[in-house]
Amino acid sequence: MQHLAFGKGKVAVVTGAALGIGRAAALRFAEMGLKVCLVDLPSADLKAAEEEAKVKAADPGSIVAMATDVSDPGAVKAMAATVMETFGGADILLNNAASRAGRGFDADIEEWRQLVEVNLWGVIYGTRAFLPGMRERGTPAVIVNTGSKQGITNPPGHPVYNLSKAAVKSYTESLAHELRSSGAENVTAHLLVPGWTTTGKNEHRTGAWLPDQVIEYMLQGIAAGSFYIVCPDDEVSAEEDRRRILWGAGDITENRPALSRWDPTVKHAYDAFEP
Ligand SMILES: NC(=O)c1ccc[n+]([C@@H]2O[C@H](COP(=O)([O-])OP(=O)(O)OC[C@H]3O[C@@H](n4cnc5c(N)ncnc54)[C@H](O)[C@@H]3O)[C@@H](O)[C@H]2O)c1
Repeated sequence: MQHLAFGKGKVAVVTGAALGIGRAAALRFAEMGLKVCLVDLPSADLKAAEEEAKVKAADPGSIVAMATDVSDPGAVKAMAATVMETFGGADILLNNAASRAGRGFDADIEEWRQLVEVNLWGVIYGTRAFLPGMRERGTPAVIVNTGSKQGITNPPGHPVYNLSKAAVKSYTESLAHELRSSGAENVTAHLLVPGWTTTGKNEHRTGAWLPDQVIEYMLQGIAAGSFYIVCPDDEVSAEEDRRRILWGAGDITENRPALSRWDPTVKHAYDAFEP
């Protein structure tokens, strides 16, 4: 049983739909009989994803690519207006586009700023552009924001990506509460947390999931009414994720050094930790 927002003829907007998890979502939704707006930066990959989705769809006219930079609030508003004109609004919004630029603590400041614009502000612009219409329609609707385990356990290496995903988690939690407590019960928010997934143009490696597996897990999580949809992968089990998340929270409650999991003086305690 799917959530009611995923019925035939419903409308899904997927950002970051040219590649990876967003592309897999768009193709799956097309196969399920949804109308799909594929949103991404203009590229041959976006065109190719649109063509593939048209092949999967019973009606190719139900698939539209909309080249949009999600970090541009005016462009996101214009895209939402086009979705309204074309399909009468959206039932599903997957705020999934993300950048991984600016790796390292001293990376170019403009790269950091741009990453936050895409990964955090893109999610906020998308939500603000579509939520009022979803509320007004009053029919079942979902907003799924893609976070990351890096936004929960904060591993060293890519601090700005981690902070953007921690902010997406915080924003989506607040959004879920707001929807619940303001009587907008037809709309629910969900935080999708993929595990290690082969995306972009990367070669598939043992241990990683494929994007289709993430989308299947997401659909099951939404149908089950889950807010946190934390995917395992073939290397990290759900139990190991739970251990890592609880250990990270324990850094605060036990007054340990920040990111103690990676502190050689504390590592032995983490290795012996059983929640
Ligand atoms: N792949 C993983 O292992 C993994 C793990 C955890 C979280 N995630 C998250 O999953 C989501 C999907 O990532 P993916 O791995 O499929 O990546 P991907 O690189 O395959 O796809 C990301 C897409 O976002 C698009 N994009 C980037 N900037 C954009 C912008 N300004 N406007 C519009 N589109 C833009 C890219 O063009 C690309 O098509 C992201 O939010 C990512 O942070 C991925």
